[in-house]
Amino acid sequence: MNIVLLGPPGAGKGTQAKRLEERYGLIQLSTGDMLRAAVASGSEIGQRAKAIMEAGQLVPDEVVIALIADRIDRPDARKGFILDGFPRTTKQAEALDRMLAEKGIKLDHVIEMKVDDALLVDRISGRYTCAKCGAGYHDRNQKPRVEGVCDACGSTEVKRRADDNAETVSKRLEAYHAQTAPILPYYRAKGALQAVDGMAPIDDVTVALAGILNGAAPAARKAKAASRPKAKAKPRAAAKKSKPKAKAKTRRKAKAKPARTKRAAKSTRSRKPARKAAHKGRKPVRRSRR
Ligand code: AP5
Repeated sequence: MNIVLLGPPGAGKGTQAKRLEERYGLIQLSTGDMLRAAVASGSEIGQRAKAIMEAGQLVPDEVVIALIADRIDRPDARKGFILDGFPRTTKQAEALDRMLAEKGIKLDHVIEMKVDDALLVDRISGRYTCAKCGAGYHDRNQKPRVEGVCDACGSTEVKRRADDNAETVSKRLEAYHAQTAPILPYYRAKGALQAVDGMAPIDDVTVALAGILNGAAPAARKAKAASRPKAKAKPRAAAKKSKPKAKAKTRRKAKAKPARTKRAAKSTRSRKPARKAAHKGRKPVRRSRR
């Protein structure tokens, strides 16, 4: 299963991607994480991306497209992936389509996580991760079980992102509305876009995502089905009408046989073969008469 999670900064893409990874055995491909790793390693890409990320702007398309193309080719991505933070521009969305078509891979779900801007600054400014294993937390919304201790690995060291301050967050939100939100109609037009309420509590968002992944049809496909010509809809309606009749017949038949008769028939049926089986292969026993 291959999924794209779309949504503004702080919508919960990373939080939910981690859960989907565990639950469905998929791999999270986060361009933000890849770029941060590149910055930390001091690579050429990292040096190029650092200032852009700290300013809350988008790294050039060709850089992130190359990162994703390379990552999707690795063996662990074959079991299925969750794209988190990619695509972020129409150019990236088109490049992704081409890339997947060349590799014979299809996208199963494109899911938008809807959250009002007003909530996002609070979410992002309270966010931190475990410095050792990367588990995500929030000062108020997602605390570890023991204050200051990572639930997953027990480390007491935490990290906060350089771009998680109010000023950069508002720049990132601007970038989202100007460059990323326009790709929503791109996926909607393909009938591929589904949405969840990202304002709901974290566990509820996970349940909503599971509902989609376990088979709910995209809204666009449902709408198309509803607008199908009536001629196609008729046999369905007829089939539905005939069902209650069949049920009524079964009910009448069941009523016709009194419960006692049914039990008796059952017990006769069940005893006879048992008796036969019990005598099978045995010699008849003669009783002596005195
Ligand atoms: P990236 O790392 O992708 O950041 P982002 O998209 O801004 O998203 P975030 O990671 O900030 O948020 P999220 O949606 O994952 O939320 P999270 O789950 O952490 O990108 C960083 C930068 O890299 C970009 O600005 C850009 O410069 C560059 N970049 C990356 N990809 C690029 C691309 N494709 N093209 C060009 N440039 C690119 O949740 C946030 C907090 O809220 C957490 O603390 C969490 O606990 C809490 N929370 C989550 N869900 C809920 C909930 N339902 N209720 C309450 N709290 C919640």
